[in-house]
This record gives sequence, C-alpha cells and structure tokens, in this order.
Amino acid sequence: MPLKGTVRMSDNAIGIFDSGLGGLTAVKELIKVLPHENIIYFGDTARVPYGNKSRRTIIRYAEQDADFLLSRGVKMIIAACGTVSSVAVNLKDELPVPFTGVVAPTALAAANATKSGRIGVIGTSATVNSGSYKNALLRLDSSFSVFQQDCPLFVSLVENSFISPDDDIVKLVVERYLHSLKEQHIDTLILGCTHFPIIAEAISDYLEGKVTLIDSGRETALFAAGILEEHKLLNRSTEPGACRYYVSDTVEDFRRTAEIFLGKNVGSEVSHINLEHAFVH
Ligand code: DGL
Repeated sequence: MPLKGTVRMSDNAIGIFDSGLGGLTAVKELIKVLPHENIIYFGDTARVPYGNKSRRTIIRYAEQDADFLLSRGVKMIIAACGTVSSVAVNLKDELPVPFTGVVAPTALAAANATKSGRIGVIGTSATVNSGSYKNALLRLDSSFSVFQQDCPLFVSLVENSFISPDDDIVKLVVERYLHSLKEQHIDTLILGCTHFPIIAEAISDYLEGKVTLIDSGRETALFAAGILEEHKLLNRSTEPGACRYYVSDTVEDFRRTAEIFLGKNVGSEVSHINLEHAFVH
C-alpha cells in the first residue's frame, strides 16, 4: 500500500493530444469508458491543420505536444490524431510512459466490422499518403480491398464549426470527397482523422446509412483502457475524473465547439498555453 499522502502514478491524468478539436472524439469516449480517470487534453489550435505539413514538421510538433503533456505528469499519452499516428511512428519509442496512436485500434475494429472486405479509408493528405491504415488492414487480412481518399477540408469545416448535417456547405464538401468511394461499394469506412466523427452524421447521410463508420476516437479510447489495465495504471478512485483542456490559440472558439461536441460547458476548464515558447526543439 502506498503511504498516506503519497501520489500513486495511477492517480495521474491520461494525456491526449491532437492538432485541434478532433481528439475530443477520443476524450468523449474515454469519459464514457473510464469515468474515474483525470484527463489532460492538448489541442494545438495555433498550428492546425497538421495534415498538409511535411513529415519533419509533423514529427517536431508531435514531440512538442507530447513534451507538454509529460511536463504535466501524465501516466499515458494518446495521440488522438490520425496524422501524427501515421507519420510520427517512432514517437512511442521516445516516451517514458505507455502510448497509443489511433491507427492500430481503428484498423482492427474495421477488420472486425467488414463483411465484404471492401473498406474505405478517409483521412488527411499526410495520413492517406503514408498508407498507414491501408497497410495495417492488409497486414490483418491481405484479401481486403482498401480504397483511400484524403479529405483535408473536413478538418477546416470542423475547426470552423461547420458541423451540421443540414448545412449546405458540409453536404457539398462531403459529396465532393466521397463520391468515388461510394461507387466502390464499400461496407465499412474508417474515419481515419479524429476530426471526422464530428461530421459523421453528414457522412452517413451521404452514404445512405449503408456503410459502417469506424470512429478512430472511440476505438482508441477502448484500446487505451486496455493498455492502462495491462500496466496496472487504472485510477482506483470512485469519484468522477476531472478534465483540463489546453489550447495553443485562443480559448473562445475551442470552448464553443467543445461544448457542442461534448454536450457540456467546458468554460473554466480551458486554458491557453504557448507551446512554441515552452519547448523549442
Ligand atoms: N485530427 C487530426 C487527424 O486525425 C487532424 C489533422 C490535421 O490537423 O490536419 O489527422
């Protein structure tokens, strides 16, 4: 038993980061799956989007994001970002705490869900160009037919609160990007960027509800719970966990969209942090 007053590592928060709001899809699910865990979220809203940046830049940003979370004493890090998970593939080896990205858990869920073996993958340009999900799927079953499409404007739609399935702009962009995937008669679609579940309804409507959507945020939250259990790092508190959100740009836009998305007011839980000054690699 730890001495009274000492802090157990398991009491520490789970650290989650993304380039912006998208990682909230993982936070939402983590709160459901692990309601007693404390969570520290970092959204790099000053530098979003990551998905059209070079490999070198994405890796540098990912290292800075992880450093920030480590400076807050987190017990685990989740890269709730398809782009980082696809490009900064060595980040895991550099960290002193357990880590997961989104690619492996999401690919596994898609492989389990598909019946026809025809699977679509949508993500940022960096994610699609890396072939990360496609390779992970083909490693699971080489007979799968995988169709990829990058949808970079989806990130901007979400970051700018264009998320209603009834919004004409949302409908138009969804149709433009998903038109050719629809013709491939996929039965499963990986939302390979954590921003995309926020417009899942518009995507599902366009695909006439016929395609199973795999939410990378949700699958990763479930996977992370398994990792914590394996490392005996689950918080044993019976109190609801606390969430703190940090963003690198102004807090107002984040507050507004986070509230719509998480269904609760996160006003006082959001702070600004200047990452460029805090960690320069
Ligand atoms: N949520 C990030 C991802 O999963 C968005 C990427 C971006 O910033 O372009 O890829």
